[in-house]
Amino acid sequence: MCGIVGYIGHRDACEVIMKGLCRLEYRGYDSAGIAMIEPGGIAVRKREGKLSGLAELLEESPLRGHCGIGHTRWATHGEPDTPNSHPHTDCSGHIALVHNGIIENYLSLRMALIEEGHTFTSKTDSEVLVHLVEKYYQGNLLDAVKRAVASAEGAYAIAVISDRTPDEIVVARKASPLVIGVGEGEGFIASDVPAILEYTNRVLYLNDNELARVTRDGIAIYDLSLKPLAREPVTIEWTLEQAEKGGYETFMLKEIYEQPSSFQDVLRGRILPGRDGVTLAMKGIDDAFIRSLEKVSIISCGTACYAGMGGRYLLEHFTDLAVEVDYSSEFRYRCPKLDRNTLVMTVSQSGETADTIASLRMAREKGCKIVSVVNVVGSTIDRESDGVIHTHAGPEIGVASTKAYTAQLGALVLFALHVGRVRGQVTPADARAIIEELESLPGKIDRALATEGAVRSIAQKHFRVKSAFYLGRGFNYPNALEGALKLKEISYLHAEGYPAGEMKHGPNALIDRDFLVVCICTRSVRYDKMISNIKEVEARGGRIVAVGTEGDPNLKDIAGDVIYVPETMEELSPIVNVIPLQLFAYHIARLRGCDIDKPRNLAKSVTVE
Ligand code: G6P
Repeated sequence: MCGIVGYIGHRDACEVIMKGLCRLEYRGYDSAGIAMIEPGGIAVRKREGKLSGLAELLEESPLRGHCGIGHTRWATHGEPDTPNSHPHTDCSGHIALVHNGIIENYLSLRMALIEEGHTFTSKTDSEVLVHLVEKYYQGNLLDAVKRAVASAEGAYAIAVISDRTPDEIVVARKASPLVIGVGEGEGFIASDVPAILEYTNRVLYLNDNELARVTRDGIAIYDLSLKPLAREPVTIEWTLEQAEKGGYETFMLKEIYEQPSSFQDVLRGRILPGRDGVTLAMKGIDDAFIRSLEKVSIISCGTACYAGMGGRYLLEHFTDLAVEVDYSSEFRYRCPKLDRNTLVMTVSQSGETADTIASLRMAREKGCKIVSVVNVVGSTIDRESDGVIHTHAGPEIGVASTKAYTAQLGALVLFALHVGRVRGQVTPADARAIIEELESLPGKIDRALATEGAVRSIAQKHFRVKSAFYLGRGFNYPNALEGALKLKEISYLHAEGYPAGEMKHGPNALIDRDFLVVCICTRSVRYDKMISNIKEVEARGGRIVAVGTEGDPNLKDIAGDVIYVPETMEELSPIVNVIPLQLFAYHIARLRGCDIDKPRNLAKSVTVE
């Protein structure tokens, strides 16, 4: 998500950090800042907006020093403005800190720290960390950071400097990336290798629950009890371009593989301690309003629309609400019956899609409250909604959406669960079971990713087809639409998603031995019906690729190829089942020689009608 760069050594630290932050610019960010140890103490420059703005500020008031930390922020908690940008400093101004990740228990920590007399200047979750370091500081920065992170739950990569110990940068990591670059008489830190590759290709990777002291003389790594750990540097052979993609051949593949952790981030801090419900912190949406609701209308475009369709199945399943779903471009021009008892939900990765914004504004004029599922904090949809569920998927660069989709589905599960609990339609026991299964999904997504080798071989057999159907039923019907969209977007093949039961009403006429039919047939209440639909395709000679549940004994007899994924609750199964569909589209596109990250004629964010 956020970018971190730090330097200690003989060079101009500001220059090294600015260059490093520029190297991370391709990932997107909304503000940037640097803290430096100067002779008079810690000096901070930070500014909302692009790095060019920070560069202007540095020209007006330069930073001079040899030990500093810098940050590009991708907002998660608190809007993207200057006070919320990093580095954050403690009350005394002697300590500065940058953070990448999400601190789940920041609200309770913040309240306790305020009670102890600390003054906060931002709305971020990150700021609690610098006040915790201040609280625990007794002359040893490493020890203070160790004690601070012991109180924090969630994900973090942090870098901390103090003018009282000006010859060190202390870093710590849990579930967010951090690398330390090894130099002669100097040390580098970064969230990603490209930031420091210009200076060194010898790096030490920090693991979860480890800390390190980086000085001019060397790097010392410790566990959480401050026991020193031995670690040999690894040599990075990547080019800059490879490093930007984390060693993957495209951003899309990198983002597909980020899904175990991006899905985990959707859940962070949202599960109630009793584990029988969730908290979504939707400012303008209270329980009384949720109880008064009669209808939910979900509007969105593209992949987000298919997530929205998934949301309809979830809301109808977990609540007694009537639910409608629309493409934003249709919704804004029809005459939907909306009133105060209708909640309008928008789903958007960018938060800037023109048709979705127009629909939101139309709904607002009709007196509806708006809840949005949004990835980009501070975007137009984020600002104009009454309640927002941020997906926390991090920047998505590949035009074809992948990790944003699973994060949107995760957010919609949480929303449906929350509404079901508030309206009394989901019992505490049911909620516990769903939450337990949600928490198992990162592991199951990981296992689904392990199908890549099998998926690649299957793609090899079919990449010359001209057309494909994707079939699913129930919760997996929107997933079929999404699978087909992925194939269209990146391989330029004609593909259509269909509800499997509808095939006999026309589409079956198209099936012959050259027609590819991808069937999502994991265990579900409609499994037998899905099998019958697949048999209809088999009888007409179609090439069947099925996605089935591990251990399913039937599918191999009727499908030419089967990709097996781990079993989960049917309601949550689209989140696992979409993984092989993403990989399948990916490998077909690769075999067809397409430009996967930048498909022709498409834009990542469609800000015009
Ligand atoms: C474009 C993108 C899609 C995205 C859609 C909606 O078509 O290429 O990946 O799903 O816009 O974008 P949004 O930012 O609103 O989710």
